[in-house]
Amino acid sequence: MVKEHQIIAGNFDLAGRASSDLKRLLKGDAHYPRRFVNRVCSASYEAEINIVIHSVGGYMTYEIVEDLIELNFYDDGPGIIDIELAMKKGYSTANQIAHINGFGAGMGLNNIKELSDRLTIHSSPRGTHLKIQFKVGERDA
Ligand SMILES: Nc1ncnc2c1ncn2[C@@H]1O[C@H](COP(=O)(O)OP(=O)(O)OP(=O)(O)O)[C@@H](O)[C@H]1O
Ligand SMILES: [Mg+2]
Repeated sequence: MVKEHQIIAGNFDLAGRASSDLKRLLKGDAHYPRRFVNRVCSASYEAEINIVIHSVGGYMTYEIVEDLIELNFYDDGPGIIDIELAMKKGYSTANQIAHINGFGAGMGLNNIKELSDRLTIHSSPRGTHLKIQFKVGERDA
């Protein structure tokens, strides 16, 4: 199953909707351990918020195949100039509005890396693509 969700830049009322929808779906399936659902949805939330606060907008897709989940986040720029630097804990370019809304600690990408089983990031001024993969494993028991 593949599903797609739009993510609108700067809209803090709708921010997190795509990840909530995914959470509802996973929680409704008794097959998934609670810890697994939590790490998938926390990572999804971080990636979704990044599109809201750092990009001009984009979308996510999720694909669920038994105990494998793949999330893809695409946006239309302006891109991450230095991915290695962006991955560092505490590094953030979040603006004041993002800070007022409680974001901008510079932890999101690092959290996504820790929570997921595989993360790949591609970015150019035309946009950023995060591919995030999860597999039910020992840490979910
Ligand atoms: N989709 C994106 N487009 C452009 N830049 C991004 C994107 N995602 C992340 N970044 C850049 O990488 C930096 C680090 O992202 P990260 O998610 O780790 O922290 P943050 O979003 O600034 O704060 P937090 O996630 O803790 O609220 C951001 O401040 C921003 O400069
Ligand atoms: Mg973030």
